[in-house]
Amino acid sequence: MDNSCATLQEGCLVVQQQNTTAAATMATVDHSSSSTKAPVTRNSRWSLAGMTALVTGGTRGIGHAIVEELAELGACVYTCSRNEQELNERLEEWRAKGFDVTGSVCDVSSVTEREQLFQRISSCFGGKLHILINNVGTNIRRATENYTAEQYSIVMATNLEAPYHACQLAYPLLKASGSGCIVFNSSVAGLVHLGTPGSVYGAAKGAINQLTKNLACEWAKDNIRTNCVAPGYIKTPPVEKLFERKNFLDRLVSRTPLRRPGETEEVSSLVAYLCMPAASYITGQIIAIDGGLTVNCFERVV
Ligand SMILES: NC(=O)c1ccc[n+]([C@@H]2O[C@H](COP(=O)([O-])OP(=O)(O)OC[C@H]3O[C@@H](n4cnc5c(N)ncnc54)[C@H](OP(=O)(O)O)[C@@H]3O)[C@@H](O)[C@H]2O)c1
Repeated sequence: MDNSCATLQEGCLVVQQQNTTAAATMATVDHSSSSTKAPVTRNSRWSLAGMTALVTGGTRGIGHAIVEELAELGACVYTCSRNEQELNERLEEWRAKGFDVTGSVCDVSSVTEREQLFQRISSCFGGKLHILINNVGTNIRRATENYTAEQYSIVMATNLEAPYHACQLAYPLLKASGSGCIVFNSSVAGLVHLGTPGSVYGAAKGAINQLTKNLACEWAKDNIRTNCVAPGYIKTPPVEKLFERKNFLDRLVSRTPLRRPGETEEVSSLVAYLCMPAASYITGQIIAIDGGLTVNCFERVV
């Protein structure tokens, strides 16, 4: 990766030559000066080289796959999580693989920690951010009538307030990049009832789905695209615990046209695509990655 994250400064990567790709990305959407634009090649449309990205919650599960996918496609990635030891282990592994990934501890449900995170990112990436992946989410599976006010606050603070505020904090950096992109990690639970308790989670994810559409319209003027992936059941540590429950996996498979749960890489590949210049005309979309679960009605009868 010689085209962007060339130097390390105070433990952070500094982007030096990101303008080439940013300019190429702009060229796909700016029709005002076509005679002076550099040609956009197929390779540059399917690459993240020279781009800077923040992925929240990158040490495990879907976030981990997204960090690796973006880094392998050439982006300089910053990530965060709460467990410092685990974060340091992942950073070390990524360094060994040759990926440009750095990160710091941050609980995204804390306003103060979010503000500190974006100060760091701004100084690491020279005031510009191309890609914001709002990945972190949490669930407390409990019947609505038993939800406490505290549980409600935890789920809403993590799943709605944190990504909303992250977008506000990222806005000047995304705008400054000249070609910004936000991807939310929502859930099919924001589209349909999943048969397990989780009304607050569903409400927060449903709100994220609508936020995707609002920001797509509000910030298109700044060349910031906003999209959302809505996974079904993906094999991550919390979901694999659910599969231990008798009959759960069998019922899921029977309702899913592709007859299996998803892999984290199946989510990260879509996220990466949405960030690429190749997706430059896609904004405001919520895309389910669920093996067809949410378009299926009856269980298979023949
Ligand atoms: N897995 C699925 O089937 C599925 C389906 C639909 C939607 N989703 C959504 O996908 C996203 C990721 O889920 P996952 O299953 O991949 O989760 P996961 O395997 O539990 O990983 C969560 C990651 O986020 C970090 N994290 C959690 N809370 C955090 C916080 N408050 N601040 C900072 N980092 C935090 C975790 O590290 P620390 O614990 O160290 O902080 C970890 O790196 C969530 O938004 C979830 O709602 C998942």
